[in-house]
Amino acid sequence: MWDVPRLNWVHHNSSFTQAMSRNILQILGNGGRVNFLAADGTPVPEPAKWDTNIEVTALRDLEAGFIKLRAPAWPAELLGAFDPVQAKAGRALFQRMCSECHAPRPIQGTEGGYVEYAVTTVPLAIIGTDPHEAETFLRRRYQVERLLGSGSGPVGGAEGLQHITAAIANRIYDRLGYGPAERQEADGRGRRNLVRAVAAYKARPLDGIWATAPFLHNGSVPNLYELLSPPAERSREFWLGTYEYDPVRLGYLSRETRRGTRFDTTQPGNSNAGHAFTDDRGAPGRLGPALTHAERLALLEYLKALPDLPPDRLPAVPFDWEKYPEQLGWRWPRQR
Ligand code: HEC
Repeated sequence: MWDVPRLNWVHHNSSFTQAMSRNILQILGNGGRVNFLAADGTPVPEPAKWDTNIEVTALRDLEAGFIKLRAPAWPAELLGAFDPVQAKAGRALFQRMCSECHAPRPIQGTEGGYVEYAVTTVPLAIIGTDPHEAETFLRRRYQVERLLGSGSGPVGGAEGLQHITAAIANRIYDRLGYGPAERQEADGRGRRNLVRAVAAYKARPLDGIWATAPFLHNGSVPNLYELLSPPAERSREFWLGTYEYDPVRLGYLSRETRRGTRFDTTQPGNSNAGHAFTDDRGAPGRLGPALTHAERLALLEYLKALPDLPPDRLPAVPFDWEKYPEQLGWRWPRQR
């Protein structure tokens, strides 16, 4: 949450740009009421078909709160201080092996004030993590004739959601009597509403990452030590549901509990492959050779220290909103 408002693309698959449309989608996915069809199944006419029970002003206020969030500092008083010498060594490793994807890359023109970042989005073929989430979003097609009239559709999820979220937001803004300035503010600093589907996942900035186990977009790796280990050494299954923190490996302890959930990485969508530092040259998503135990520990010390010891920023880039479907913000810079 703490960096999200500053990123140009959000969601694991870098699919949304705008806070309001993303938040509207979130509510639709959690049981928000829509008015697309009348009780007898016939389409409701414009503009009443875009009526919902979504409280746009509450969403706007929530988002204004998120903008103030900062990554949580490592709680030394609870979990023990991090080792500053190790953290510095870890920072050097990070600069060499991680920063091209995970360091913040300011968007040109924002550097002076409220800095916004072009998030690095990495194609599935390179990152090699479970493809289901990105591919599902990319491949789904929807019949929308009853929603948008005969002759329309089928449309992809991105196109459909862009249309629906914009129509819903505009309907509420109209009803609230919002003028241009209020619309801009509610949209989140005038962000355009664009939704795209790409076969890729984003590499988020890692400040505060110690607090967010389990890892990867599908939560398939229980702690950071395992994420930096070759995929063959990662847990095949583990338990979620305890909040007892492991300050060595940086994640929650895996322990079977009555209310816990067993996470099985062999199930579809749950793969823990990819993002691999391994000597196995055939491993999917190989990013580099295996890290030694000492290197992994130094990187973990650095990730604890990160909010206070940020990596060097990458050079600022222009962000061309018009070219959004093609612009992943990044190209693989070198062969390994
Ligand atoms: C080629 C670009 C690239 C490099 C290099 C890279 N990463 Fe990543 N990283 C990614 C992407 C993309 C994801 C998201 C993958 C996913 O969720 O499936 C990710 C995910 C992560 C996550 C999990 C984030 C979360 O929210 O769960 C951590 C932690 C992480 N990387 C740490 C590192 C560290 C430490 C290094 C260096 C040793 C590194 N990465 C090198 C691209 C990269």
